[in-house]
Amino acid sequence: MSKDVLLLAIESSCDETAASVVRNGKEILSNVVSSQINVHSKFGGVIPEVASRLHVENVSVVLEEAVKNAGITMDEIDGIAYTLGPGLIGSLHVGVIAAKTLALAYNKPLLPVHHIAGHIFANRFVDELEYPLMALVVSGGHTELVYMPDPYHFEVVGQTMDDAIGEAYDKVARVLGLPYPGGPQIDRLAKSGQPVYHLTKPMNDASYNFSFSGLKSNVLQFIDRCKRKGEEYTPENIASSFQESALTLLVGKTVRAAIEYDVKHIVLAGGVAANSRLRSMIQEEFASKAPNVKVTIPPLWCCTDNAAMIGAAGYYAYLQERWGELNDKASPSMELF
Ligand code: KG4
Ligand code: ZN
Repeated sequence: MSKDVLLLAIESSCDETAASVVRNGKEILSNVVSSQINVHSKFGGVIPEVASRLHVENVSVVLEEAVKNAGITMDEIDGIAYTLGPGLIGSLHVGVIAAKTLALAYNKPLLPVHHIAGHIFANRFVDELEYPLMALVVSGGHTELVYMPDPYHFEVVGQTMDDAIGEAYDKVARVLGLPYPGGPQIDRLAKSGQPVYHLTKPMNDASYNFSFSGLKSNVLQFIDRCKRKGEEYTPENIASSFQESALTLLVGKTVRAAIEYDVKHIVLAGGVAANSRLRSMIQEEFASKAPNVKVTIPPLWCCTDNAAMIGAAGYYAYLQERWGELNDKASPSMELF
């Protein structure tokens, strides 16, 4: 049997400082996440300057804890996997510099990972991935349909033309006076609402691209108009109307893409994959329209940002010898390839 691959992984692309030790891209030996959410929620969103400062304060402690919790020494590590991009430049820098420092100090290879590859491979903690595969990646910064003919080959077949789906959720929540991050709040409210408001339907064309800014603006205008005229509105019904409209389009295009690309497996990925309505809708729609496609919906703990997912993706980077260099720079708008 071939030798085990033990990776130390670092993720710092947004507002979570995270480190993890993962064996063979599948077995989590430790998974430490230090969230800054309590700080950013006071401002109603992530403040990049504050995020990078907090990463600097936290990164050493988080790394130390990840190695200690895994019960290993740095000698046993085969490589340092880290998020090279995309994300907030200042936040990424901290993780990249930490990775390079460790690589240099302990003479370990560097394994740069794309944040979205991490979200996709988080599914490997709960299921065997079958190829060809399609991933629906939904987060605060991404809305993408990614086709994978085999492990670690990515083809973006559709993406948002404007706002990411998580961003639209967060903005709608904000005008409803809900705290950041707004996605989980809309999810909760919508459960006791009905989709009674007729909002602008998001773009639905033959492509696999998405656009949510029209729908989002329509919600903002609707609330504004009600306030100006002193008319009552029900936040639960607004949450439900917005969500049904956005998710119907998202899931509809995903089913269509999965059928056209004749995939064996569909996986959800990213923070918005925690959404309860999306989770049920995708299961129902695939069961009725493409019952032969295997559907994996990751558990909540691996939907949001963490470093174990970077270790899962980094394993394939290791197998394919996609080494990084000490002069690589954080790449805030890195392409998935
Ligand atoms: O993947 P993630 O943790 O960070 C990014 O890479 O962006 O995703 C964060 C996003 C936020 O926009 C948040 O509001 C959204 O995921 N989110 C949700 C839910 N939980 C998190 N959106 C809708 N419903 C949820 N339950
Ligand atoms: Zn993410």
